Order: sequence, then C-alpha cells, then structure tokens
Amino acid sequence: MGYVAEPGLQAFRDTGSEDKWTAETVTAIRHWSPTMLSFRTTRYRGFRFTPGHYARLALPDAEGASVWRPYSVVSAAYDEYLEFLAILVPEGAFSAALGRLQVGDTIQVDKNSYGFLTVDQLAPGNDLWLLASGTGLGPMISILRDPAVWANFNKLIVVHSVRHADELAYRDEIAALPEVDFLAEGGASLGYLPIVTRDPGAAALNQRIPVLLADGQLEKAAKCEIGVDHSRLMICGNPAMATELRQLLGKLGFATNRRGILGQMAFEKYW
Ligand SMILES: Cc1cc2nc3c(=O)[nH]c(=O)nc-3n(C[C@H](O)[C@H](O)[C@H](O)COP(=O)(O)OP(=O)(O)OC[C@H]3O[C@@H](n4cnc5c(N)ncnc54)[C@H](O)[C@@H]3O)c2cc1C
Ligand SMILES: NC(=O)c1ccc[n+]([C@@H]2O[C@H](COP(=O)([O-])OP(=O)(O)OC[C@H]3O[C@@H](n4cnc5c(N)ncnc54)[C@H](OP(=O)(O)O)[C@@H]3O)[C@@H](O)[C@H]2O)c1
Repeated sequence: MGYVAEPGLQAFRDTGSEDKWTAETVTAIRHWSPTMLSFRTTRYRGFRFTPGHYARLALPDAEGASVWRPYSVVSAAYDEYLEFLAILVPEGAFSAALGRLQVGDTIQVDKNSYGFLTVDQLAPGNDLWLLASGTGLGPMISILRDPAVWANFNKLIVVHSVRHADELAYRDEIAALPEVDFLAEGGASLGYLPIVTRDPGAAALNQRIPVLLADGQLEKAAKCEIGVDHSRLMICGNPAMATELRQLLGKLGFATNRRGILGQMAFEKYW
C-alpha cells in the first residue's frame, strides 16, 4: 500500500515558536500491516538531527492532553520532511492516538533530537552491521541514507527481524539504495537479510538474531565474518534482544563508546 498524501502541502517550515516544540502537519501515512505504519510530517527548518537520532512526538489523548513518546527518525538529514515508523501496541496511550491519525492532523515535535545510536559513536571499521527488530529498522534507514556511511565503510549489512512478512518495511527502498547516485559514489556494497520468525517459509532466515549470530548463520548468509578489528554493529529494537546481543558481542571483545573511547557497537532499546 502506498502513502496517503495530501498534495501541495508544504514541508520545510522556517518559523518555529518560543516553545520547546513545534506544531507540525501530518503529510502522509503508509500502512505496512494493520499494526505497523509510517507517517511523514512537515519539518521545522531548525530541527536538526544526526541519522540514528530520535525525536520526541506528542499527540492528544481522548481528553486532549498531550502524550509524548520518543520515535526514531527514518528520513534523511537532508529531507525537507520528517518520517517515522511506528507499531500500534494494544492499550498503548500513544498507539491509540496514532490509530486515529489522519493526513492534515497536527503533531507536536520537540525541537531537539536525542540518542547515541549514531555512527560517530563507533571507531572506524570496514563492515557496518545494522541489526534491527520490528520498528527498530527506522533509524537504520536514516543511517543508510547518509552518503558518509557509504564512503566510510566497505560493506553495509542490514538485518531486519520481524514476526510476519508484511512487517518487512522499506524492503523495496533498501533494495533501491545502491541505485542512488550520491550513495553509490561512496563505493560500499549493501547486503539485506530479512528474518521472518512467525510465518514459516516466508524468508530464508527464521530464527532470532542472537541465535543466528551465535551459530554463525548470519555471517554465512552475509558472506562476511564478524570480528572486533573490522566489524561495527548498531542494534535497535526489542530490549531483550539488545541485552542478549550485548552479552554475546561483549564476549567477542566488542564494547560501546565509553568516556570518549570510540566503541565497536551501539544500541537503542525501544522499551
Ligand atoms: C529511544 C526510543 C526510540 C523509540 N522509537 C520508536 C520508533 O521509532 N517506533 C516505534 O514504534 N516505537 C518507538 N519507541 C517506542 C515508543 O516510544 C512507544 O513506546 C511506542 O510507540 C508505544 O507507545 P504507547 O504509548 O502506545 O505504549 P507504551 O505504554 O509506551 O508501551 C507499551 C508496551 O508496548 C511495547 N512496545 C513499545 N514500543 C514498541 C515497539 N516499538 N515495538 C514493539 N513493542 C513495543 C512494550 O512492551 C511496551 O512496554 C521508541 C522508544 C524509545 C525509548
Ligand atoms: N507483530 C505483530 O503482528 C503484532 C500485532 C499486533 C500487536 N502487536 C504488538 O506489537 C508489539 C510487538 O511488536 P513487534 O512484533 O514489532 O516486536 P517484537 O515482539 O520485538 O518482534 C519483532 C522481532 O523481534 C524478535 N524478537 C522478540 N524478542 C526477541 C529477543 N529476545 N531476541 C531477539 N529477537 C527477538 C521477534 O521474534 P519472535 O517472533 O520469535 O518473538 C520478531 O522477529 C507487542 O506489543 C504486540 O502486542 C504486534
């Protein structure tokens, strides 16, 4: 299903407000599945972020009070709009508001961006692995749209684990990235490994990322060995997955950025 968009809506806006947030307009909504969607908003020109960062968004609850939640930015730093990938969780306050969202609605966006899931947390390396579960793919897409990433690494490998095949969001967009001139100029190759855990046969890989990493299946599928001297990993999504991967990789000598010493891995947990 494509984006539902209102034609002619302006994107970049030059005027903010004295508040810590700006009121933006939802310009497009795209449903990947009944519970997973992407949406775009106008962007205040003063909103700055590094790929991998998250924004803080607010929507009104049933009583009209603002419910604030963090959401990773999917769009590129140079896009004139902001894009987000979201899941609707049962009984979630923000999810309920998001379920009612329509093109043309207003959404509050904090003027600041946040987070440490950025490439500048990592020491230089050869291969960049982007490991995501569910909506954790979102910041990886923004990172992949950064020309510097294609110039600074030789291999980019995206691993996306979802329950059901229709949640393999941005599949076509990922496949098209190597055709983008200003990314291709960087020279990196791009690998994409989809994992579907609850639809048998829907993808070649069907086990959770830590299992596939521990038994070497991930390296085999990517035709790329993981080692602390040449591999860098960014991990986003399910917190239990992040904890398991941190332990596994820690045993292999991988560390996060600490007190100014650049690391070999970086994490964002979503709950
Ligand atoms: C730094 C950060 C960045 C985030 N970025 C995103 C993002 O880009 N997209 C996004 O959908 N969510 C993201 N989240 C989660 C998001 O902020 C909300 O928690 C979520 O959308 C649900 O909000 P809610 O009020 O409906 O339910 P909440 O009360 O906030 O959450 C209820 C429960 O839903 C489950 N849950 C929450 N978020 C997710 C999720 N993303 N995937 C699967 N289960 C979840 C957890 O079990 C959680 O305890 C992020 C969270 C953090 C901390
Ligand atoms: N996805 C849906 O169909 C759906 C539908 C309605 C509501 N929801 C709600 O959305 C939330 C879940 O969203 P989600 O499916 O995007 O997130 P998720 O439960 O984190 O699942 C995303 C992927 O991460 C994997 N995973 C889960 N725990 C892991 C761990 N400890 N280590 C490694 N991988 C792990 C899952 O594998 P497994 O399959 O093995 O768990 C799946 O492949 C829940 O609140 C749920 O109620 C989801």
